[in-house]
Amino acid sequence: MTADEQAQRQALEPLGVELHARNVTFDWSRTPLHWIAGEPVASDICCILHLVLPEGERWFCEVFNEALPFVKDEELATAMRGFIGQEAMHAESHDKAVGEFLEARGIDTGPALRQVEYIFRKILAPRSQKSDRARYNDMVQRLWLVAAIEHYTAILGDFVLNCAWDEYDVDPTMADICRWHGAEEVEHRSVAHDVAMYFDPSYLHRCRAMVIVVVALLAVLHRAARFVCHEDPNLSMSYPRLWFEYLRGSHRNILPKVRSVVRYTLLYFDPRFDPATVGSTAQAVAYLATSPAARRAAA
Ligand SMILES: [Fe+2]
Ligand SMILES: [Fe+2]
Repeated sequence: MTADEQAQRQALEPLGVELHARNVTFDWSRTPLHWIAGEPVASDICCILHLVLPEGERWFCEVFNEALPFVKDEELATAMRGFIGQEAMHAESHDKAVGEFLEARGIDTGPALRQVEYIFRKILAPRSQKSDRARYNDMVQRLWLVAAIEHYTAILGDFVLNCAWDEYDVDPTMADICRWHGAEEVEHRSVAHDVAMYFDPSYLHRCRAMVIVVVALLAVLHRAARFVCHEDPNLSMSYPRLWFEYLRGSHRNILPKVRSVVRYTLLYFDPRFDPATVGSTAQAVAYLATSPAARRAAA
């Protein structure tokens, strides 16, 4: 996107969108495991979100709840409460997909879930520091980690709202959970960055958090993708073939392109980085107005 197009899109963005959780539900009874017809690898890779996201989102909520008492800016505190409400609902919805969809289709999710739990409940738990100052600094660094991870959830949100799934025979329930979640990620994409900047506007700490998150995400997502593809009783492919299928899927815009993720990652290291440049609030709000699950929740 050129700078002019970017400026044009920014000018059309709605101002002051109030964040609130939508009480959505999804019926998984008719969703096939290969929910993009004829695309088993792309289907399985998208399913890793159900495994990885809920623990991370509950951890976001814990870090934000820890930070809230220190926030004196009422507008920011309100955005944080909206963010917490949305993330809690995302976690609950994906948890249900694990039981009612993945487990019900023969995927044993236990080993993968235990590994993700270990990362967020042990490695990223608050350190048992002695002084208040040390505990506070530890919390601030976790806020920067949340902001860095939220950069990727916004990228994924923008991807699911603009990908080519509609050109394929996709299951509407799976498409809707991904797009409802993705649209809310785009809607609240600035909150975690604003919170981290409020506590600690250090460019160095922002970059350090992003480097940690890039390495960790690469390892976790790669491992989770191999796990789901291995567990899928209807899929048997060599490792190089899985990569080939990933690249084929990304070329057809049903999976995120590696070069696009790299470009957005580099953008984060720009000292003037603004999360609002990822995705479009207008598009997210428009999707949420038509999302079957969000409409049922509003009825
Ligand atoms: Fe989320
Ligand atoms: Fe989020």
